[in-house]
Amino acid sequence: MSTLKGLILAGGTGSRLRPITHTSAKQLVPIANRPILFYALDSLVDAGVREVGIIVGDTRAEVMAAIGDGSAFGLKVTYIPQDKPLGLAHCVKIARDFLGDDPFVMYLGDNLIKDGIVEFADAFRDRESGTVAEILLARVADPHRFGVAVLDDEGRVVDLVEKPTVPPSDLALVGVYFFDKTIHEAVDAIEPSARGELEITDAIAHLITSGKKVGSRETLGYWKDLGQPEALLEGNRLMLENVASTIKGSVDSESIIEGKVSIQEGATIVNSKLRGPLVVGKNAKVIDSFIGPFTAIGDDCSVVSTEVSNSILLEGSSIEAIDRVEGSIVGKNAQIRRRLTLPKSTRVVVGDNSTVEIY
Ligand code: DAU
Repeated sequence: MSTLKGLILAGGTGSRLRPITHTSAKQLVPIANRPILFYALDSLVDAGVREVGIIVGDTRAEVMAAIGDGSAFGLKVTYIPQDKPLGLAHCVKIARDFLGDDPFVMYLGDNLIKDGIVEFADAFRDRESGTVAEILLARVADPHRFGVAVLDDEGRVVDLVEKPTVPPSDLALVGVYFFDKTIHEAVDAIEPSARGELEITDAIAHLITSGKKVGSRETLGYWKDLGQPEALLEGNRLMLENVASTIKGSVDSESIIEGKVSIQEGATIVNSKLRGPLVVGKNAKVIDSFIGPFTAIGDDCSVVSTEVSNSILLEGSSIEAIDRVEGSIVGKNAQIRRRLTLPKSTRVVVGDNSTVEIY
């Protein structure tokens, strides 16, 4: 059987997570200190994929700088530019030369599957003869935001609808799809949807109505950014659960480390208590502070005399002498500090679409 290729979708614009994506592609937003997209690359490598096509849009320069030729991940990467986000099936269309007639896994660059896709890739490789596609499904509370599947009594997919106002089930399409070459005929047969996109959901529905077999599997530990900061924190919590304890930086004798804590090279921990799961990035400083569970402190950050938990600090940001910071996202190079000079007042320089809640 020919080898499974990968197709990662990292195009589109990052408008929904602003302000965090004002200066960054949405697929590069860090979750547990790693760009979301890197987890997709790892998952593909673990599943035995070696050749990956990456669809890139407006933010291509940044995505290409982060991934390079893919060799750091053990992958051979081909970039496929997309001028406008014309839909997931459009991505398959423009990747035709790269994909050839090989089977492939399409992975949406803003989706996270906590425990990877090895079992699903293996199951697709061993698929029943005649099965042309396999999709992943997850039970979600808000199916109207997703593609939604309807299954028959034997678990076979009988219908798919994209973002239905009245969802026929709570089974959402996860952004990971396995296809053989039959998908290309389906993609060529469909028309743009009401939102003007060539929908992969319509292409898969077309496979089903033309009598082809489409399998499905349910996955747990699924996360997709819903464009809200709270959802980012949730993704951060999910992936921090998988963090491996490692201490590469320096921890002084006054500090206490509890639970799963990853401290990267050059980081300095002084007179502080760290309660995992959490990560502290390269060259970050934590001084006279408490870092609580589910916190990701980026590279070159500094936390001084502050308690932080359930938060994401992007690279280069700093917090000083704030009693307690919880459920927060601090953008790159942002600074939060106590003001000690009079008059007693709050002074902010806050970017567009930001939120500041002062207790
Ligand atoms: O995340 C799962 C959902 O993804 C599925 O349940 C839906 O059925 C599927 O249509 C898709 O829905 P979204 O509307 O959320 O997809 P979105 O436009 O956010 O695009 C997903 C990723 O693909 C994102 O990283 C951007 C990239 N993309 C998207 C489009 C439309 C491209 O690279 N090119 C495109 O043309």
